[in-house]
Amino acid sequence: EKHSEPANIHEFERIAEEKLKASKNSLWSYIIKASGDRQTYDESMRAFKRYFLQPQVLTLREKPSTWTIVLGNPIRIPICISPVAGQASVIEGGDALTGDAAAKAGTLMVFSSSSSMKIEDFGKVVPRGLFWAQTDLYRDKKSILNIVRNAEGLGFKALVITVDTPVEFMASSGKSDIGDEVDTTETNGAPKKDGEKKECKGCGPTDDTPWQPKTCCAKNETFCMATWQDLAWLKSETKLPIVLKGILTAKAARRAVTAGIDGIIVSAHGGRQLDGVPPPLMALPEVVEAVKGSGVEVYMDGGVRSGSDVFKAMALGARAVFVGRPALWALAVNGGEGVRRMLRIFEDEFTSTMAMCGCQQIRDIDSSFVKHESQFRY
Ligand code: FNR
Repeated sequence: EKHSEPANIHEFERIAEEKLKASKNSLWSYIIKASGDRQTYDESMRAFKRYFLQPQVLTLREKPSTWTIVLGNPIRIPICISPVAGQASVIEGGDALTGDAAAKAGTLMVFSSSSSMKIEDFGKVVPRGLFWAQTDLYRDKKSILNIVRNAEGLGFKALVITVDTPVEFMASSGKSDIGDEVDTTETNGAPKKDGEKKECKGCGPTDDTPWQPKTCCAKNETFCMATWQDLAWLKSETKLPIVLKGILTAKAARRAVTAGIDGIIVSAHGGRQLDGVPPPLMALPEVVEAVKGSGVEVYMDGGVRSGSDVFKAMALGARAVFVGRPALWALAVNGGEGVRRMLRIFEDEFTSTMAMCGCQQIRDIDSSFVKHESQFRY
């Protein structure tokens, strides 16, 4: 069918929009949702356009290699999948289809604790591949440990702790181009199917309870106010490396290094949490600088839509990038095949960018290959 072969990531978005608006409009709203005035969301894409490439010429003899290593595990491309809820609402078994496509592409997927698929079921359906497990620091330690023990048992290689959700962004205010149909909570925004796992921010995932935060929380809370102490507890419970997702400042990054974590995903939660924070690409250099020499690996997500975006993030110090919405769009366009194609497009674009910038290896990519628009003499 004509829809199955988008030529770039923007086409995935356009076709997914067309398809989902026709069949599952509220799901489209959920995916594209951003908070507040959408400043952070809009800027997350625009930030990439403020940097220009500085190609090196006549230096390459061979096709570049895109292999790199994240927390000791090799990946074929530095383009990984962010933890995203709602994949099974886009298509049945969505998380597994994405996981399988990532594995076939030789890259990493982070499994979301807000996924409607249980981590143990994901592990059964997708036995091979490189996976990390994401969780919030829920007040209910049992649900965290359930994820941790499953991740350990399934051979997942790290835990991703999302730290930018002390409260969930609830109200869509100000400018919004997606109408008033938006359901603005992360976990209950996706249309529910029978038997789908519900989740409360305070209590963690609940298998059988319907989504009723007011009554399922002992304290009538929907908050997830975790602290560095809770992180220290988690660290004492597992040997898995810990990656913090949602750090945007040098100060928080230094604190994270002190806490003994292993990696940081510089992220603004796709512009879905605190509006007005800097786009991740702009925050990236100060975080990279802050953790220098510590051995902590720094990645980023938010607004990555092309191979050239990937290259720019790597030039500014990211070890790898993650993509969120592109995976959901790709699932909507053509299921697991769509995700595979989406990753192949990123790979092809990124490889060409490396070649045209004269970079043979990932380690050749540094800040000399990008120039911020403010550095040009007009
Ligand atoms: C997310 N994100 C997210 N993050 C997380 O830590 N746990 C989660 O369950 C989810 N769920 C989720 C659902 C949907 C529909 C979206 C769009 C996003 C945030 C995600 O991991 C990532 O940070 C952003 O999506 C990255 O931005 P881009 O790539 O979407 O621009």
